[in-house]
Amino acid sequence: MKIIVFLCFQLFSVILAENVKYSFETKYIDMPLDHFSFTSNKTFKLKYLVNDTFHVDNGPIFFYTGNEGSIEMFAQNTGFMFDIAPQFNALLVFAEHRYYGSSLPFGNLSYTSPKYLGYLSSTQALADYVYLINDLQHNYASNRHLKKLPVVAFGGSYGGMLSAWLRIKYPGSIVGAIASSAPIWQFKDLTPCENFYRVVTNVFEALGGKKCSETIRNSWSIIRALAANDAGKTQISKLWNLCTAIKTSDDIDKIVNWLLNIYINLAMVNYPYPTSFLVPLPANPVREFCGKINSFEYKDNIGLLKAIGEALTVYTNYTKTAKCNDIGGSMGAIGIQGWYFQACTEMIMPLCSNDLDMFEHAEWDFKKYSDDCFKQFGIRPRDENVPILEYGGKELGSASNIVFSNGLLDPWSSGGVLSNVSKKLVAVIIPDGAHHFDLRAANDLDTESVKLARLFHVQEIKKWLDKYYPNNLSVPTVTLKQKN
Ligand SMILES: *[C@@H]1O[C@H](CO)[C@@H](O)[C@H](O)[C@H]1NC(C)=O
Ligand SMILES: *[C@@H]1O[C@H](CO)[C@@H](O)[C@H](O)[C@H]1NC(C)=O
Ligand SMILES: *[C@@H]1O[C@H](CO)[C@@H](O)[C@H](O)[C@H]1NC(C)=O
Ligand SMILES: *[C@@H]1O[C@H](CO)[C@@H](O)[C@H](O)[C@H]1NC(C)=O
Ligand SMILES: *[C@@H]1O[C@H](CO)[C@@H](O)[C@H](O)[C@H]1NC(C)=O
Ligand SMILES: *[C@@H]1O[C@H](CO)[C@@H](O)[C@H](O)[C@H]1NC(C)=O
Repeated sequence: MKIIVFLCFQLFSVILAENVKYSFETKYIDMPLDHFSFTSNKTFKLKYLVNDTFHVDNGPIFFYTGNEGSIEMFAQNTGFMFDIAPQFNALLVFAEHRYYGSSLPFGNLSYTSPKYLGYLSSTQALADYVYLINDLQHNYASNRHLKKLPVVAFGGSYGGMLSAWLRIKYPGSIVGAIASSAPIWQFKDLTPCENFYRVVTNVFEALGGKKCSETIRNSWSIIRALAANDAGKTQISKLWNLCTAIKTSDDIDKIVNWLLNIYINLAMVNYPYPTSFLVPLPANPVREFCGKINSFEYKDNIGLLKAIGEALTVYTNYTKTAKCNDIGGSMGAIGIQGWYFQACTEMIMPLCSNDLDMFEHAEWDFKKYSDDCFKQFGIRPRDENVPILEYGGKELGSASNIVFSNGLLDPWSSGGVLSNVSKKLVAVIIPDGAHHFDLRAANDLDTESVKLARLFHVQEIKKWLDKYYPNNLSVPTVTLKQKN
């Protein structure tokens, strides 16, 4: 059985209104639509958020390189920048990625045809950030001795890839980058394609025990066998409270992908306290999920599916308000469409699954992937090598001032930079950390390893800024003590 999935870093099924903690001013800049040609002067409004409360005098700009979604959500979940801004007197800026949130170059037409969507790429997004940074440096010009305020980039996940690539491609624009959970090596031949699912499996085994991962491993063939006939399809639909009963073999693939995404997301956001980054979840959701499976005594196949159904409520119904489970759910949402388009053009991340992990066997098949892209968007990826040609793959000898941080509970750590590349390209490991844990605000339940990672970031940022400021102008850093 072959499954080709486009994996999203995040699922934006709900815009989470709660969890709003930070405030900022919302601004827009007229941004060239196409940075790489001179045949048109068309511009669009790119949104960015500014918080200048902590900014003093020559203080630097802390710049978040937005990812695939509304920028507010990333700003609300990147409390680390707010935590350290006071000690650096920093100006906080969060830039939205083009084609997401309200930064739609062609308004509601943006997603209607490849002719409009074609300007969605990481290379255009990086050029947007460079353009905006230059503008900020003029608008917030230092009043004493500094021509331009130094800029430090921050980003998590795809945003982390962008912050690293920003430093790699445009070292004149930023002094350094904190790239958290950035799988810049999840590309062709840089990482074995089976690593991603192996990390997910390891997390479930390590935190939830063998019974949990074995239950999941055994479930796939049971689902497929049961769903082979109509009565079985109805039974599964009832068992798992599906909003729409499954009917076709496409629906079976959908349900398999739905489960797959839930398992991946549970590992990604396995934080030690309750969060509502993707959906509202309890602390340590993998342990919660597996706890339910482990305490469910099942004797037969239907029992196994019931156990999974019970455990799934940890993810689908933590607030106890879900009426039913929508397995197609967020797939039509604009953020998701945008990411699929990117996955079909530049961000081709080969993933596969073999018999050592708890998932269905799946080969990586670029041709099939390309065909699926053509079906969905009418375009094909030019070449599997594109992201490597654009960003250098592992040839990072000339790059400097990037911290790559990765939590080992995060499936995307599979494509991350996990060891020091050079003195100036360093890796920080957070063994008990999930997806960009270190970018979150300090919390009483933080682990020692994430506190250390944040301290490391602060020290590196200080080093980069020290180099930037002239000798007679001291770095506006007050103290290096980390909050909490
Ligand atoms: C900036 O963030 C701080 C900390 O959350 C908050 O107190 C302040 O009001 C914010 N400033 C603006 C201009 O929104
Ligand atoms: C772009 O704007 C400049 C300055 O206003 C103008 O001289 C030029 O002709 C414009 N180019 C195009 C292709 O419209
Ligand atoms: C876009 O919005 C305009 C006005 O708001 C509306 O008239 C038009 O039908 C919309 N087009 C699409 C493709 O949704
Ligand atoms: C969610 O929980 C509530 C309360 O226990 C229950 O009534 C509802 O059926 C559950 N929904 C799903 C989809 O399981
Ligand atoms: C990378 O080097 C730093 C010292 O600069 C060290 O603290 C850190 O542990 C190293 N990272 C790894 C993954 O070994
Ligand atoms: C620092 O040096 C620059 C040029 O070397 C000079 O213009 C400036 O006045 C000096 N600033 C202070 C605070 O001494």
